[in-house]
Amino acid sequence: MLKVINVVGARPNFMKIAPLHKEMVSSLKIKPILVHTGQHYDQKMSKIFFDDLGLPKPDFYLGVGSASHAQQTSKIMVEFEKILLEISPDLVLVVGDVNSTLACSLVASKLNISVAHVESGLRSFDRNMPEEINRIITDAISDHLFVSEKSGLINLQNEGVKKDKVHFVGNVMIDSLIQNLEKCEDSDIIEQVKLDKANYGVLTLHRPSNVDNEESLSQILNAIDYIQKKIPIVFSVHPRTLNNISKMGFQILIDNMKNLKLIGPASYLDFMKLMKYSKMIITDSGGIQEESTYLKIPCLTLRENTERPVTIDVGTNQLVDISAIEITKAYENLFSNSNDNKIPELWDGLASKRIVEIIEKKIN
Ligand code: UD1
Repeated sequence: MLKVINVVGARPNFMKIAPLHKEMVSSLKIKPILVHTGQHYDQKMSKIFFDDLGLPKPDFYLGVGSASHAQQTSKIMVEFEKILLEISPDLVLVVGDVNSTLACSLVASKLNISVAHVESGLRSFDRNMPEEINRIITDAISDHLFVSEKSGLINLQNEGVKKDKVHFVGNVMIDSLIQNLEKCEDSDIIEQVKLDKANYGVLTLHRPSNVDNEESLSQILNAIDYIQKKIPIVFSVHPRTLNNISKMGFQILIDNMKNLKLIGPASYLDFMKLMKYSKMIITDSGGIQEESTYLKIPCLTLRENTERPVTIDVGTNQLVDISAIEITKAYENLFSNSNDNKIPELWDGLASKRIVEIIEKKIN
């Protein structure tokens, strides 16, 4: 049996690993081992996703918590190395672009253990984003690169990655979405928040460039103030954002927005349900650009760039500058476009199956 360590650390990892881990559990050739670094640790940022996604309790929990990038990354490395020395796996599989992804791939590669990177090749070409650094380095040291959209193939080719390491397999996050679209009907979040189906917007914000910067956060919240007068908005608030709203003195502005409904970080199924029945989404998340594309919900992404260009080329996504005027303008024009959006190639719910088949064949 191949021993494969699947790494999770932060919220966007859980829904990517869940379908892969399940697929490996039913494989006759693979013994999957789940390691949680503890980069995210709050019940609402972590445990609740294990429950919603049917992920088993991790085999190892490293409990690293929040800290500066250097501290967090190095703590993960030190703890993860102990696990690798104990287990000697045949493969370490990492997903996405968070600090846990970088830390664990680096440790494995130094111990000459094969690394698989799922969601490889995405590039924002913006090295001010910590995630971009994580993506570039993880790809450079990975042995098996699993790509979710065609831009990833081009980026890896431009970086000189050998073709036989690269596999275009589709999107595991969409696998999770498809697997849970029916199940999320059990959530009563829409009633709880007192919203009407198809007549509300969903908002999420957590990028440091948006929420750690007072001017940017002010521009965004002023635009939201305008938009919530037109359509109710449910705002699922990340802990980083909540801290900054209060630290920077925006609480009164928020309290005065009568149509803005604040909820804490939503569970996976609650959030799927909220997205599924929304009229539009405003976000700075990576994954939500993809999920909204699959659901064909118009999405305004408050960023200068995206590492997921297919969501703009064929999907429902558009980038908007961080300016109150630009965001309100984009909202006003949002529903005038005709809706002939498409679902990107291989976003069909079978990406994890393809990945596991390749692992079974390639690694021995
Ligand atoms: C991380 C990822 C980002 C991803 C995001 C999703 C990196 C570099 N960033 O950003 O790519 O999109 O997760 O959420 O890996 N906090 C809590 N409880 C938690 C976790 C965090 O309160 O369970 C607070 C802490 O104050 C912490 C802050 O959130 O300092 C930021 O957490 P951190 O893991 O450093 O980065 P995220 O902003 O969550």
